[in-house]
Amino acid sequence: MRIQTRTQVAIIGAGPSGLLLGQLLHKHGIDNVILERQTGEYVLGRVRAGVIEQVTIDLLDEAGVGARMHADGLVHEGVQICVDGVRHRISFKEMTGKAVMVYGQTEITKDLMDGRAAVGAPTIYAAYDVALHDISSEKPRVTFRADGKEQELLCDFIAGCDGFHGISRKTVAPTAITAHERVYPLGWLGVLSDTPPVSDELIYVRHPLGFALCSMRSPTRSRYYIQCSLAEDIESWPDERFWEELKPRLDQEARDRLVTGPSIEKSIAPLRSFVAEPMRFGRLFLAGDAAHIVPPTGAKGLNLAASDVRYLSQAFIEHYAEKSDAGLDHYSDRALARVWKAERFSWWMTMLMHRISDNSFDHKIQLAELDYLFRSKAAMTVFAENYVGLPY
Ligand code: APR
Ligand code: PHB
Repeated sequence: MRIQTRTQVAIIGAGPSGLLLGQLLHKHGIDNVILERQTGEYVLGRVRAGVIEQVTIDLLDEAGVGARMHADGLVHEGVQICVDGVRHRISFKEMTGKAVMVYGQTEITKDLMDGRAAVGAPTIYAAYDVALHDISSEKPRVTFRADGKEQELLCDFIAGCDGFHGISRKTVAPTAITAHERVYPLGWLGVLSDTPPVSDELIYVRHPLGFALCSMRSPTRSRYYIQCSLAEDIESWPDERFWEELKPRLDQEARDRLVTGPSIEKSIAPLRSFVAEPMRFGRLFLAGDAAHIVPPTGAKGLNLAASDVRYLSQAFIEHYAEKSDAGLDHYSDRALARVWKAERFSWWMTMLMHRISDNSFDHKIQLAELDYLFRSKAAMTVFAENYVGLPY
């Protein structure tokens, strides 16, 4: 016997997209259930990027989960770019009047989970074999197995917030969806360590040995990345080897200030640009990584997930409160317009900062573009506008 329940919006995935959507809908009295295939502990164990745009900060505040972020997050008014050992600064404040917040995605996920628990909204973790049905009808359904029981969730709409490897996008007929993809021939090897950051601001590093990034989570916790080959095996990267590869890519001041220590997390992430169009299929709406991926250069992943959720939550609110489907009808076009601009910026910054090829022409073009960036107020403004986040 199948256990049958009902909700207004069934949300697949309890990552940042699903949790934030759930919180905003709950605030507006829209009933929702989140189905997540992993456990809560597993979801919180994933280390991801940590730069938040002002518009994302505002949305987290609106969802009522911003208090810890404001207390512990670090406001950054600029960023540093190091080219072949020489450091330059771009001021967001001066160019745009805005700033970003450095606060880990893991912490945001925890704040969202706590917020959801506080309002008593249901999340079913360890939900297996999630399958979407009848998405083209007025009565979509989701079947799954949890607590050893077969279950069925009847709903008005399904929000596919289940990331790049999720089931939602795969449910759609291949003829109804167009995928645009670019895979880069490299990855980022990341290390988290309880050591003070080398600088008060992030340093993106372009170097003949390859890209590096000095980031942070707090005044006592650093996050570093170096460009690596996709064939790399994490087991062949003891901490000492990581620090030895990072050091020569930095400028002298950063090298002098670098405090090394044991890693508390180490992982390799591939670099990929991906967009699936459209983002709506009948009563199924995709949001976040389920619909698009950016390479991490520029830290747009979480921010794009948040902007999708903003458009989608408003569309659901309009549907239930004002009986208008205009927001739902425009969701895909609105979300994709912003997605493509962030895809462009992430691709551009990736191509600018990495050692992508051994072609000396490519290297010279990178250097010319960087030189132009540091000398032109117009170019710096374009960079800063995109980094702090384009308006909705
Ligand atoms: N059934 C239920 N849940 C699933 C399924 C499934 N078949 N497949 C995946 N999930 C869950 C995953 O376990 C994960 O917790 O969906 C969630 C998706 O979360 P994310 O991958 O974090 O995606 P999203 O919420 O869109 O967040 C986007 O995360 O990957 C970063 O760069 C990205 O910062 C961005 C943010
Ligand atoms: C991070 O701190 O993990 C981080 C910061 C900026 C990026 C990517 C990742 O562009």
